[in-house]
Amino acid sequence: MNRQWIYAVRPDGPASVDNFEYRETTIPEPGDGQALGRLCYLSFEPAMRTWMEDFITYMPPVPLGTPMLGPGVSQVVVSNTPALNEGDLVSGMMSWQDYQVVGEQARLVPPDTPIPVMLGPMGGTGLTAYIGLLDIGRPQPGDTVLTSGAAGATGSVAAQIARIKGCRSVGIAGGGDKCRWLLEEARLDAAIDYKNENVAGRLAELCPDGVDVYFDNVGGDLLETIMGHMNQGGRLAVCGAISTYNQGLRRPGPANMFEIIEKRLTLQGFVMFDHMDRVPEATRDLGQWVAGGEIAFRTDIQQGFDNIPATFLRLFSGANQGKQLLKVRDVDQTLTGQ
Ligand SMILES: NC(=O)c1ccc[n+]([C@@H]2O[C@H](COP(=O)([O-])OP(=O)(O)OC[C@H]3O[C@@H](n4cnc5c(N)ncnc54)[C@H](OP(=O)(O)O)[C@@H]3O)[C@@H](O)[C@H]2O)c1
Repeated sequence: MNRQWIYAVRPDGPASVDNFEYRETTIPEPGDGQALGRLCYLSFEPAMRTWMEDFITYMPPVPLGTPMLGPGVSQVVVSNTPALNEGDLVSGMMSWQDYQVVGEQARLVPPDTPIPVMLGPMGGTGLTAYIGLLDIGRPQPGDTVLTSGAAGATGSVAAQIARIKGCRSVGIAGGGDKCRWLLEEARLDAAIDYKNENVAGRLAELCPDGVDVYFDNVGGDLLETIMGHMNQGGRLAVCGAISTYNQGLRRPGPANMFEIIEKRLTLQGFVMFDHMDRVPEATRDLGQWVAGGEIAFRTDIQQGFDNIPATFLRLFSGANQGKQLLKVRDVDQTLTGQ
């Protein structure tokens, strides 16, 4: 039996568990040059909410009536290709179902990398942070770098790379616990609790000389506030806009757009997939920083196939403590031969 979570109802406002429908179906058969993967872990990203709209973003929308898409790791249980062996772990775009056909191009999980690390700081969000901060934000030592969503998967890595690169790193996150983690574990210079503090007031206090680089994960009103604190020639690496994803994306932009001209700001959006040439260097650096304890990270691992839709929604309430994952099942060690 193949359990599935189908994308069934398009949301009109915040996504909810009612957008998804549970089904059971037969296990697909892999063709020549393909393998059958059994899902072990799912990873959740806020942008998946944008794939539920009926227009194309940088990804085509997920068709209604099909299993929801999302990154994950599956274990090969049948292989019709010499490129993949039974027991191999493959990562990449999966769907919310127990069994899926995977192609020869599937990315193998290195045997010495734990899955939560592979899907966390060494995965898409870590690479996004590296490319977005260093190539788009272009911080210089001594710059003040501000990151929103700073206790999350992407933001926490970006904010710590800023610290590693000799910048003054300030993070914005929701709640005292997340801000404490930013100061004590991620070792940022300062943290702002946007849910309980006045962000403009705290920025004036903590960044009296302004902000040089803003790594934006949130968009919306926070972006407008921060534009008012940017320095001349400041760079805004526009990574995401989670505050708008549940509002249909078509919201008016910041009211203070003239600040872009006045301060000669650069706002640059980016998508990690466009920078694959940077992956080898990013992977090497991230690997060294993670192994050396210079980048602290948290993975929030929920359990069980039934909890998939509810786990996705944790990203929007801020319930996730770091990279949001869900374990569907353990890796079958009898298949890996370990
Ligand atoms: N451009 C790319 O290639 C790329 C790739 C990956 C991710 N992204 C973007 O990066 C951002 C972070 O993604 P992630 O996967 O690392 O998720 P994450 O930061 O681990 O989780 C999402 C966090 O967003 C915060 N949040 C939720 N609603 C918010 C709101 N209305 N206002 C402010 N903060 C809110 C919550 O933290 P608090 O508890 O602090 O509120 C929540 O924990 C997203 O915008 C995502 O789309 C972009």
